This record gives sequence, C-alpha cells and structure tokens, in this order.
Amino acid sequence: MALNLGDVVPDFEADTTEGRISFHKWLGDGWGVLFSHPKNFTPVCTTELGAAAKLKPEFDKRNVKLIGLSVDLLSNHDQWTQDIKDATGATLNFPLIADHDKTVANLYGMIHPNASDTTTVRSVFVVGPDKKLKLSLTYPASTGRNFDEILRVIDSLQLTAKFSVATPADWKNGDEVIIVPSVSDDAAKEKFPAGWKAVKPYLRYVAQPTAGKPS
Ligand code: BEZ
Repeated sequence: MALNLGDVVPDFEADTTEGRISFHKWLGDGWGVLFSHPKNFTPVCTTELGAAAKLKPEFDKRNVKLIGLSVDLLSNHDQWTQDIKDATGATLNFPLIADHDKTVANLYGMIHPNASDTTTVRSVFVVGPDKKLKLSLTYPASTGRNFDEILRVIDSLQLTAKFSVATPADWKNGDEVIIVPSVSDDAAKEKFPAGWKAVKPYLRYVAQPTAGKPS
C-alpha cells in the first residue's frame, strides 16, 4: 500500500550493520531519513552511501538520523562497507538495513515491479518526530540522489514545523520565506512584528525566522 504524507510510517524490526533495531524505537523523538538502494556492490549506490556518510554531521545538527536499506544479506553489507570506504574515502557511519527477504521494502512500497521485481527503486522517506511521513521521493536506479537537496528539504520542513512559514521555489537556508496562507494579516502582525513584503495579497515574504517564539 502506498504511503501518503501524514501517515504514521510502518514500524518494523530489522538487522542492520549496527545491530538489530526496532524502527520507531530507534528513531526516538527526533527526525529520520530512511532511504533504499537497489543492490549492494553497484556503482551509483556506492557513491550515494559515501556522499551521505560525508554529510552525516549536517544531518546530526538537524537532529535527523540516517538509515539506508538494501535487499541484501548482512554479511554482504560488511564487505560492501569496505568498498564504500575504498571508493569514496567515507566510513559508513549510519546503519544499513539488511532486508534480504524484502519485508521492509514491501512494507514501504520500495519495489516497483515495472522497474524491477527483485530490487528496490531509490526511495527516500523523511519521518518527523511524530513518526509521520513528511516527505517522500522516488528516483530510478540509474539516478543518484542529491543529499544536499535532502538537507534543504529538511530545513524547509523543520522551519514549517516551528514557524508558520513555507519556502518558495529554489529556496536555500537563509533566504526569505513565505507566510502560510492560513495566517491572516492580523495574525501575521503578531507573529512577524517586523513586517513583511506583500508581492500579492497571498504572497507575503518575510526574513527567515531563526529564533524567537515558534508559531
Ligand atoms: C547502481 O547503483 O549503480 C545501479 C543499480 C541498479 C541499476 C543501475 C545502477
């Protein structure tokens, strides 16, 4: 069954490169990114895991845990981890689920039969502290993901969760943000006392809130 934004993500137990985990418990009260890889010992996946490992400090700063998955055996993961280090210089510093029987892949709809019956597509699930799905992405096996983009959307999601703002096209951390339509001008005066720039009555830009009272 397809997962929709706002659904509580399925819980599961699985073996990983860092031991057996119970997913919801492992997430704790922070954010999480679960992302799948078609197969071990494949070139694009190797580069992705190296890239994600290098950016882990940035995910940590945002209180986001990373966890990868591929439909392989744990013993395979150990060998592949060494290859990832050789190829990218990065040590795998987050768990990788060994989903050889595809339990988790099926639970999350990561197998798209028109792409492949046996391997996953490149799924990304961003989970909030309430265990609800905040964002999902699906890439084909042939396209490596951009982990800076995943950080960018997490910055947007976390701003929206804390303040009543949305982020415009191509927004980057530090750029102006948009007051959400559900906030009236009267309410906005309280929330954003420094004012805003209304390009249209419904398009109101404010400086990115960084501190102060969440709304
Ligand atoms: C890869 O990770 O390189 C890959 C995996 C499956 C199909 C194509 C590329």
